Amino acid sequence: MSIHQSERSLFVFCLLLLLFCVKPSKMPAQMNWTEIDVQAEAILKTMSLKQKVGQTCQITVEGILRFNPDGTLPLPLQVNGEELSEAVQTYKVGSILNAPGRALPRTEWLKLIQAIHAPYVKKEIDIPILYGVDAIHGANYVLGATLFPQEIGLAATFNVDLARQFGEVTAVETRSSGVPWNFSPVLDLGRQPLWSRFFETLGEDPKLASVLGASIVKGYQGDLNQSKLGPDRVLACMKHFVGYSASASGRDRTPAIVSPRDLTELYLVPFKSAVEAGALTVMINSASLNGMPGHINSHLITDVLKNKWGFKGFAVTDWEDILFLDRVHQVAASHKDAIAMAINAGIDLSMVPLNPQYKEYCRLLEELVLEGGVPMARLDDAVKRILRVKLAAGLFDVPSKKNKTVPITLQSESAVLAAKQAVSESLTLLKNEHSVLPLKPNSSILVLGQAAADRRFWNGAWTHTWQGRDSSYFSTDISLLKEWQQRAQTQQGKVDYLVGSSWSESTGIPNEGAGLTPQNQKSIESADVCVVFVSEWPGTEKPGDEENPFVTQNQMDLVHELKAAGKRVVVVLMLGRPKLLGSILDDADAIVHAYLPGEHFTQPFLDKIYGSADFSGRLPFTYPRYPGRWEHYDHANSETIAKDNSGNGYNPLFDFGFGLSYATWSVDASSISADTLRSADTVWLEVRLRHNADRPCQVTVPVFGSRRNLPIAQRGKYLIDFQKKWVPQGNSALFRFPLSVSQFEFSDYNGNWTQARGPIRLDVFNSTLNVYLEP
Ligand code: BGC
Ligand code: BGC
Repeated sequence: MSIHQSERSLFVFCLLLLLFCVKPSKMPAQMNWTEIDVQAEAILKTMSLKQKVGQTCQITVEGILRFNPDGTLPLPLQVNGEELSEAVQTYKVGSILNAPGRALPRTEWLKLIQAIHAPYVKKEIDIPILYGVDAIHGANYVLGATLFPQEIGLAATFNVDLARQFGEVTAVETRSSGVPWNFSPVLDLGRQPLWSRFFETLGEDPKLASVLGASIVKGYQGDLNQSKLGPDRVLACMKHFVGYSASASGRDRTPAIVSPRDLTELYLVPFKSAVEAGALTVMINSASLNGMPGHINSHLITDVLKNKWGFKGFAVTDWEDILFLDRVHQVAASHKDAIAMAINAGIDLSMVPLNPQYKEYCRLLEELVLEGGVPMARLDDAVKRILRVKLAAGLFDVPSKKNKTVPITLQSESAVLAAKQAVSESLTLLKNEHSVLPLKPNSSILVLGQAAADRRFWNGAWTHTWQGRDSSYFSTDISLLKEWQQRAQTQQGKVDYLVGSSWSESTGIPNEGAGLTPQNQKSIESADVCVVFVSEWPGTEKPGDEENPFVTQNQMDLVHELKAAGKRVVVVLMLGRPKLLGSILDDADAIVHAYLPGEHFTQPFLDKIYGSADFSGRLPFTYPRYPGRWEHYDHANSETIAKDNSGNGYNPLFDFGFGLSYATWSVDASSISADTLRSADTVWLEVRLRHNADRPCQVTVPVFGSRRNLPIAQRGKYLIDFQKKWVPQGNSALFRFPLSVSQFEFSDYNGNWTQARGPIRLDVFNSTLNVYLEP
């Protein structure tokens, strides 16, 4: 039996998948566990203590590869056979992770995974190795894969089907490189604008993040109503459970303080929804929540996630996080103590992941079990969970010999179409004065900013490398400026480019004095409109920490100089977190938020700014105005009181859900099917929307609810539901929202969901409806 054969069958499946361009469908998400449980039990019974311990250990791939003396990675990759067999045969390690510092051609990935799978195929080990990577916005470690917008851009689409398509494409391209497990989606809420991983979130709202997050999970894992993941799917990993993004300082992996009520109503919600969608693995928050490091929080991991929600998969630590209990959080007296605390709290797999630390981990865990510091029953439970997931992923299966090799195409037509659609629906128009947009086809355009010409700024971190700062892996055939020039020339227009503002390669801080020079004056004078790309240096986790909440001064100055020169200025934001705009807000005539759009930015962007397509993206977060205030649309009523005691003290730059379009929309009619909402009832809220454009237009309709006179102060309003639709030319469309009692539960002081009778106000655009809740 050879691994090639499994890949052949995989290729056939993948090809079929792409040919039929899988359509999203509503399928039950639960796996048939009975059969899997029986198999996992049977395997567990045959295992020695060493084998069980090894199953809970994950190492990084760097430890089993040979590197050049200068630290670079040779291609083709060279697996270090002794290190591999020491890990998987001697220590019985059950899982390996990571890209070896860089993206690889798909063929290299396949060879690597084949080499790692070989000891199982050759029956040198009994249990196959589970390999995981971070495929965060597409298979970003496979060269030539389809790179989508980062999650924050995906969230701006408010499009559930697109989220699923993103998941499907990412799954196909990841699995086609041999990797069955993806450390994604991030389900942390983006409510702290300083946090370096804001762009990895689906925005600030629990409802939006839940719906889109669950959809991504279904895209990754497919229909689970069988006993196995399809060969074109990957295991999802919900992360980072829970509260990671709420860091008070905004710095990565620093403490969060979240009330029980906010935990219930906000931060836990997307995880619960992903569990219901069938997500099979979870990664734990590296930081502390309310003083307790995520990795020892048995209440959240064991009581809530596993017992209350019925999560059947396994919990993996984040990078080195058991060691950090001792070294960083200092809650454990030793490495051994830390292991006991984490495993007993409900950790199933430890991303140790370095060598020789993993050997110590295995030795110490074995000791702990023998001494009773970790009960055998807990170890058995951890191993059983891991075995279940390995069985569910089909890792034990003998590859079929029937299928012929059919090479899979990365960036297939349908994959690229989905990525372009995601970009198209994410682009959010925040300001448009003097009708500067759409640009006239024959105008003379001056484009400025390093990000216009440097695709690292389109993609952000988790692109080819961890921090996404290495440009050498990008293919050379995508150029915004070239396509823009071609497009303009056909209409007697003109496009020029000046860098204007740039970043230092060595420090990632803005280059001083790189602004406009006297020699540039001619280009500026001859331009009708200047389009300035405002960006941030790519980064994530600690390297992405940032002290300055503002867009850099040099970029503000550039926009200001152009404005002072009497130019019309369009600003394109390529930002992963909502940086304060300072003077840009007034200096720019138009502002387009592009988030981190990925590789397929050019065409959708040009379509929007020339007006051949309309904008439909909406902000998935509240855009802050002041450096001393992080505001959220779902704030308490008391936050609306201003300095002079009048309202509205809540004053963000742009509200959650904000986004302009060229078409004008109006509410034709709205209604509610009953005055009272009772348990077991469904009441229908209906809204008819009309636009004035002479082409079909897409619109997102959010429904916000608000309540008062309840035993705990309520959020002013919060998102109840949303729908996105195409509305035909010059026409109207009916949006129908089912309302049920469960949508109006709220958390009490202690974090328990509760229900109470009373009035509910519902807002859809400028139309308000009322219903009385009688649960
Ligand atoms: C990150 C995770 C990631 C893991 C594996 C950690 O440092 O926090 O999000 O999945 O490394 O690369
Ligand atoms: C991983 C990151 C991790 C980092 C730690 C990288 O290779 O992919 O997720 O946090 O190493 O140094």
